[in-house]
Amino acid sequence: MNYSFGQRSQTALSWVNTHLLRPSRHYLGWLLDLVATEYCFRLQRRSIRQILEATRQLPQNLHLEGTNICNAKCVFCAYPQMERAKETMPMEQFRRIVDEYVAMGGKYVSLTPIVGDPFVDRDLFQRLDDLYQRPQIEGFDFYTNGILMKRQLSEKLLRYGDKLHIQVSWGGFDRQTYHAIMGVDYFDLVRRNIEAFIEAKRKAGSSMRFSLALRCPPSNWVGDFWEQCQHYIQEGLLDLQKVVMFDSWAGKVDGEALKNVGLEAVLPPYKRGACELLFRKPVVLANGKVNACACRDVEAELIIGDLNESSLAEIWTGHAIDELIDRHERGDFPDVCKRCTWYTSIYNPRKCNARINKAALAAMRE
Ligand SMILES: C[S@@+](CC[C@H](N)C(=O)[O-])C[C@H]1O[C@@H](n2cnc3c(N)ncnc32)[C@H](O)[C@@H]1O
Ligand code: SF4
Ligand code: SF4
Repeated sequence: MNYSFGQRSQTALSWVNTHLLRPSRHYLGWLLDLVATEYCFRLQRRSIRQILEATRQLPQNLHLEGTNICNAKCVFCAYPQMERAKETMPMEQFRRIVDEYVAMGGKYVSLTPIVGDPFVDRDLFQRLDDLYQRPQIEGFDFYTNGILMKRQLSEKLLRYGDKLHIQVSWGGFDRQTYHAIMGVDYFDLVRRNIEAFIEAKRKAGSSMRFSLALRCPPSNWVGDFWEQCQHYIQEGLLDLQKVVMFDSWAGKVDGEALKNVGLEAVLPPYKRGACELLFRKPVVLANGKVNACACRDVEAELIIGDLNESSLAEIWTGHAIDELIDRHERGDFPDVCKRCTWYTSIYNPRKCNARINKAALAAMRE
């Protein structure tokens, strides 16, 4: 086969980028993480912990797992491998938990489960109604694959106005890529659902926040739907959330499988001190148990209490979460945290979530 000079230099550049530039950037980032984290761990540990202890009394965002059942099989997600029982939270229990959270002073609820899709939850609209009518709740949100976000639901969803933020996880701008990444052949269907929602939003003049959470390689950010999204963005009807690296779900998601669909795996992070998730993001599972991590513990190995036996306030300020934080601080990570590549140290100023810092600063001023 004859390659032109242009093709050869493009292939060479792409090789240099993949094999030299990208890995060097990663290793440099890892090294900077190490230096910055060790500096804060050794010299600012007491003050950072003091600030975080002050803000820890109240989860900044309570995650409620309406259901852990999903209708997709994303290649980057642990859902297809989950061994935990598939369940849906009874409505009565949901109301009781939100009552308790509000009594603690809570303001934000997320209906994004660890895994599962909010639209598979038969009680989704009852839950949204419940949250909407509570003046104490200032906002609620969820991520969804959008498969069941049918056009007939658009107006119903728009009734929640600015209080609701919907984020649709999007596996690709062509049917083949979408299918390979999401494990289901619903590119056209979800595209239609998104378009219908945006048109209803335009018609209603709604300022509800609506985001497309990109879950496909940057090389796929092309094509007519991509262009259409750029117009929606310009009109203020949509925003994009770009993720370019994918974590391993504590070893359940294989790097090769990610590579096969053009996605990049997160490198194992530098681990020193407690993971920031333990300070801000618990999840109440569909069965009423509270898990310390709302993000990457798919089998729920970090249970810190049961709302059928104790209150949310007791659990969130109790012995089990303290013990977990202490274990992280000593470097004695539970198995799931040992394997996890989502971990972010509370001492890493380069990565530590801005929301922690903002809340921490506000607490310091009080
Ligand atoms: C676990 S899902 C649950 C909600 C819903 N089923 C969905 O996919 O939008 C929450 C978010 O995590 C994202 N996610 C799942 N696995 C991921 C990974 N390995 N790396 C980065 N994001 C991931 C999903 O794309 C989604 O946006
Ligand atoms: S990422 Fe969401 S849609 Fe995809 S399998 Fe996991 S839970 Fe389901
Ligand atoms: S290390 Fe991973 S599994 Fe453990 S709390 Fe942090 S994000 Fe969750």
